[in-house]
Amino acid sequence: MEEASIVRTRRLALVTGGTRGIGAAIARRLQQEGHEVVATYRGNDAAAAAFASDTGMRAYRWDVGDFDACQAGVARVEDEAGMPVDILVNNAGITRDATLHKMTPEQWRVVLEDDLFACFNMTKAVIAGMRERGWGRIVNIASINGQKGQFGQTNYAAAKAGMLGFTKSLALESAGKGITVNAVAPGYIATDMVAAMVPKVLEAIVAQIPVGRLGHPDDVAHVVSFLVDDRSAYLTGSTISVNGGMYLV
Ligand code: CAA
Repeated sequence: MEEASIVRTRRLALVTGGTRGIGAAIARRLQQEGHEVVATYRGNDAAAAAFASDTGMRAYRWDVGDFDACQAGVARVEDEAGMPVDILVNNAGITRDATLHKMTPEQWRVVLEDDLFACFNMTKAVIAGMRERGWGRIVNIASINGQKGQFGQTNYAAAKAGMLGFTKSLALESAGKGITVNAVAPGYIATDMVAAMVPKVLEAIVAQIPVGRLGHPDDVAHVVSFLVDDRSAYLTGSTISVNGGMYLV
């Protein structure tokens, strides 16, 4: 197929946690490709306002760990955009790193809710419409640490590994309906989340990345853009690693 002959359909994409870090790079990339894009965020109003004024995208504030908030939020987004969400990127996530013997039930709970339950909450808000229309793209942003485990991250690794099982199961359920469901597993990407790590621990991790550097949010956005493309219709249930060669599966 000639690149020049492709006419891309303009669709509504929703990126959770889309005003900063990897999510913002994904949102910008999908907008560059001609999609209508909205981002959600939870707490950082200043960053969201700066992002919205810079990009012209709408930024919506709600907690993706809250089921009812997701149903109401998506309904509002679709109403205000005048079109349904055809592309969902479940990107929002948090860490509360601690070894298990020190981890509090609260640190366990919030990470599972924000990182894993959020996929269920958000996907439930869009899946019926996608099935009716016979088209959809769902991309779940997991992590290298859901694939290999990580010291100090039983909560986060469990949530991210859970996203991979969720992705495969939903891909099977959706394959006959024109909906693809895939995961991207980033390695260590230069974002606020990684910058918050203990510097010595981070240094030791960077030394283990064959490409020799932290990833850039655009490295992940590029793969998401490929996955949501109309031409990626035969690619479903996969996990694509974007980790600089740090872990090969
Ligand atoms: N590997 C092996 N041993 C380690 C270790 C590691 N990564 N980290 C700590 N230890 C050792 C310490 O040397 C110490 O040993 P001694 O007692 O013999 O001195 C012992 O474990 C300390 O255990 P503690 O339970 O006291 O752990 P801590 O409180 O010192 O550190 C931690 C816990 C801060 C979570 C630390 O382990 C850590 O920073 N781990 C890395 C977490 C990480 O990679 N986070 C990624 C955040 S970004 C992200 O998640 C994005 C993404 O998707 C990739």
